[in-house]
Amino acid sequence: MTELESAARAEPDELTALKILGLEGGVEAGAKVSCSALAERMDTSDQTASRRLQALEEDGLIEREMLSDGQWIEVTGDGETVLRREYDDYRRIFEGTETVELVGEVVSGMGEGKYYISLDGYVEQFVDRLGYEPFAGTLNLSLDDESIRRRSALENADGIPIDEWENEDRTFGAVTCYEASVEGVDGHVIRPHRSHYPDDTLELIAPVKLRDELGIDYGDEVSVEVTLE
Ligand code: CDP
Repeated sequence: MTELESAARAEPDELTALKILGLEGGVEAGAKVSCSALAERMDTSDQTASRRLQALEEDGLIEREMLSDGQWIEVTGDGETVLRREYDDYRRIFEGTETVELVGEVVSGMGEGKYYISLDGYVEQFVDRLGYEPFAGTLNLSLDDESIRRRSALENADGIPIDEWENEDRTFGAVTCYEASVEGVDGHVIRPHRSHYPDDTLELIAPVKLRDELGIDYGDEVSVEVTLE
């Protein structure tokens, strides 16, 4: 388990407190809370509520600042990961989908993506099946080891098929696409059935140029949430 994964679990009581803080706006903007208000919502004593906040802080799931009439609380990135895991569980229960988080470094694919993604035989299928014409290129990530392992879940999921096609000269291979959110921007992971890239490479397409949209460059670390049916 990575450090984030081990940290990103919480005891049930802590999770309840974290969820209330999230509902109060602690994930996005931060929230002002008092122990007595929290205690009331959790049906515990003020002391217990105070202990839970302390535990959340010690586990790195929230940051807080004491005010004269309460505390200012922000849910940290790890805290958000804990809440997202819960959210993913409910999505699995109610929507039959699951998400996989993949993390990697933006690398150059030496201009190959631009060539393949602009070919009519692919573009027509992307428009038809993904609902958009992709920016001409692929954003390539070199995945970390944990993400390489997690990516294997893609092979067992359905995904959106893009069929093999041919022109006068040659055949162009089939690929499968998976809905993905790249730091909040929608796109797709594309998995060529036959790839000449090393195992750690993840290729992404999107309606927009992701590097410009997100202000990222080669060498930057990017996190991708892939939705699997
Ligand atoms: O040059 P490289 O092989 O890395 O990429 P390409 O596939 O020719 O794409 C051209 C440039 O656009 C590269 O810098 C990609 O990283 C970037 N790109 C992007 O930012 N967003 C996309 N949806 C596709 C490509």
